[in-house]
Amino acid sequence: MSRIFINYRRQDTEGYVGRLYDHLLKHFDSGDIFIDVNSIQPGVDFTRALENAVSACDVFIAMIGPQWLNATDEGGERRLDQWNDFVRLEIASALKLNKVVIPVLVGQARMPAPALVPDDIAPLCLRNAIELSHQRFAYDVERLVEAIRNSVSAGFALKPQADMPTLRQKESALKSLRLELVDATESPLYRFRSENRAFPVLGEGSPDASIMFIGEAPGKTEVEKGKPFCGPSGEVLSEMLNGIGLRRADVYMTNLLLDRPPAKRDPLPEEIDFYAPFVDRLIEIVQPAVIASLGRFASSYILKKFDLPEQRSRISDVHGMLLQARAPYGDIHIVPLYHPAVVLYSASRKEMLRRDFEKLRLFT
Ligand code: URA
Repeated sequence: MSRIFINYRRQDTEGYVGRLYDHLLKHFDSGDIFIDVNSIQPGVDFTRALENAVSACDVFIAMIGPQWLNATDEGGERRLDQWNDFVRLEIASALKLNKVVIPVLVGQARMPAPALVPDDIAPLCLRNAIELSHQRFAYDVERLVEAIRNSVSAGFALKPQADMPTLRQKESALKSLRLELVDATESPLYRFRSENRAFPVLGEGSPDASIMFIGEAPGKTEVEKGKPFCGPSGEVLSEMLNGIGLRRADVYMTNLLLDRPPAKRDPLPEEIDFYAPFVDRLIEIVQPAVIASLGRFASSYILKKFDLPEQRSRISDVHGMLLQARAPYGDIHIVPLYHPAVVLYSASRKEMLRRDFEKLRLFT
């Protein structure tokens, strides 16, 4: 469920990393453990490429062996002092991106003093480390696994339930917003709505939900019924929710566009601009602890709205990431997901969506 990035220097800890990887496989999927950044294409800014790779993880493990501090290159220069040293760049990115960073000491290495390392990675030396000893390797890895699990779930205090007066206020605010939407004659999709005698679709679910899903736009079935996700995509969504022990009524579902665009086409910028204030107000009313954006349009809107560095990333790079953001009502998380429609005909994507959904368990 957690994506783990293992940062190490071959000449220092390669043997330990292989052993650690084998043990971690008992607890995590191989696809969730990143050891080596895939080859970086010529012409690509490699500091950016490394940062992207690191940003995809939930937990960053920095392996520190006996050579970590003083390993040198062929010319005798200390590797950590080189601006383009991969180990250093990855650690600096993880710290900058506020990842959970766990130093792991092996080969009887000790944590160096912060003053002995470059400034951009000095905070690493202040983090509490876990030691993997040769004799108790399996036992120590269990402690590491526990630390990984605890650190990912730390700070996930469940959203307190709203009291009755607040719940009533939320219901009434949603009702008013629905009426505004019904009367939104200036919408670029209003004409299509009325010509087809369709309903606008504000959303559905618990007005105080901890999890809010934002899809792309209602489809034909949805605008006939005035409810989101009640067609084939909705079936996938319900199946995924059941998989993590939730019902539709436990969450809130809405879309980036609140009317159906013609001919199944992509949302247009002016349509997104028109409905965005409605979506923003839905977020303010429901105040979810996590927003799960479904597909590239909703994800791009939400990542941009919360000004996250991943806003320019493709959905294939960011799906399933647990991103921290700041809403006017407090700290929240964003989890971009593949759109359920995309997984309808692909078993492997569906499996990926199922795994990504596991992240939402933290909020249940
Ligand atoms: N697809 C969406 O994005 N939203 C719906 O409500 C239904 C299908």
